[in-house]
Amino acid sequence: MEDQADILLNNFSGFDFLYSIKTNPFPPVVRFAASRGFGADAASAAEVDLALAAGMAPANIFYSTPGKTKADLESSLGKAHIIADSLHELELLDQLAAEKRMTVPAGLRVNPDFSLSGGPGVSGKFGIDLEIIYEQRDFLQSLKNITIEGLHIHLRSQVLNSQALAGYYAAIFDLAVSLKRDFGWNLGYINFGGGLGIVYSASEDQPLDIPFLSGECTSLWAKYKDELKARLMIETGRFLVGKAGDYHTPIVDIKVSRGRKYLVVRSGLNGFMRPSIAALMAGSGVNGPLTKSAEPLFTSARAFEVSIVGKSGGGTETVDIVGSLCTATDILALDIDLPQAAIGDIIRVGNAGSYAYTLSPLLFSSHQPPMQIFMNSPDNLIME
Ligand SMILES: Cc1ncc(COP(=O)(O)O)c(C=O)c1O
Repeated sequence: MEDQADILLNNFSGFDFLYSIKTNPFPPVVRFAASRGFGADAASAAEVDLALAAGMAPANIFYSTPGKTKADLESSLGKAHIIADSLHELELLDQLAAEKRMTVPAGLRVNPDFSLSGGPGVSGKFGIDLEIIYEQRDFLQSLKNITIEGLHIHLRSQVLNSQALAGYYAAIFDLAVSLKRDFGWNLGYINFGGGLGIVYSASEDQPLDIPFLSGECTSLWAKYKDELKARLMIETGRFLVGKAGDYHTPIVDIKVSRGRKYLVVRSGLNGFMRPSIAALMAGSGVNGPLTKSAEPLFTSARAFEVSIVGKSGGGTETVDIVGSLCTATDILALDIDLPQAAIGDIIRVGNAGSYAYTLSPLLFSSHQPPMQIFMNSPDNLIME
C-alpha cells in the first residue's frame, strides 16, 4: 500500500487522490489512506462517517452514488461534498437547503457523451446524461438554494489501457470547459473518477504505463489550467489496496468423488466471492454477460492465484477447492495443480485487498465471517 501510494503521489502532480472506500472499508485501511493524504470517495452516508472517523476533513470527502434519499443527503450535509446523481437528487437537495435556510454547494455526476473506448456515450443508471443537462437548463436555473460546485465522471474500473485512460481524461477536460462556458458555473473541482487498473494475472495483464499517464496528465493540466483553475481529483480503490491483501482459509476436509479430488475449506464463496465467480466463468468456457462489464464482481477467469501456505514444488495433484456452503457454486478454484494437501493446511488466495470481505455474502448459511487483520508489520496486527 505504501508503494502504491508513492506511485500515485509521485506521478500525478496537480491531482489529488480520493480513496474509494467501497473497495475496502476496514477502518485501518481507511486510516492508512487518510495518513497518506488521500481524501474519500464515499458511496454511502455511512462511508462519509467512516471517512470522518478516519480523520479526513469534510473538504476532502466526496459523496457520490445513485439513489441517495433525503435522509442520506441530510445526514451528509456539512460532512462532505455532495454529488447529485439525478435531477431528483438536485431537487431534494434544493428542498433541504431551503428548509435549512442555506445555500448548498452540489456536485453533478455527469454521464458524458463519450465512452472510455472513445465511442459515443451510452445509457446507464449513473449520473445525468449530458444532453439532459442542456435540455434542463431552465430547471437547473430554478434551483435557487444550491450552486453547482463541481463535476464527477466515472465510467469504468480496472482499466489497463493507458492510452484510453489519457483520452478519457482529455475528454473530461473538454467537457468541463464546455459546461463552465455554457452554464457559467464556477467549477471548484473536477473529479475524474476511477479506472486505474492493477495486474491480476501476470500472464494476461500488462500494467498501466504510469510514466506515460503522468506525462499526459501534466500536459493536459498545463493546457487547461488557466481556463479551469479547478481542483483535480482521481478516485482509486484497488490500485491502492488490491494487491496488499491475502485471503487465508484452512482445509477442513479432503474428499474424492468419482475421480475428482476436493479440498473443502472453512470459508469459500461466503468469505471471498470473486474467486468463485472467476472459477465458474473459467469452468463455463462462455463469454457471458459477466465478461462484458462486471467489475467489481468479475475481472477475469485467472484473476486469483491460489496456493497452499508453506508448500511449493514437489509432486502436484489436480484438485478443486470448494467451500462448505450448501451450493455447488461455492468454489475457490477448479482443476488446479497444487502440492499434496493435508487437512489443516492453509489455502491462500492473493489479490484480496479489494472487493473481498466487503463484496461477499458473509451472512449466507449463518457461518462466522472471516476475521480481518491489518498487518503494519509482523508484530503489529490490528483487528477491529
Ligand atoms: C464512482 C467510482 N469511483 C471509483 C471506483 C473505484 O474503482 P477501483 O477500485 O477499480 O479503483 C468505483 C468502483 O466501483 C466507482 O464506482
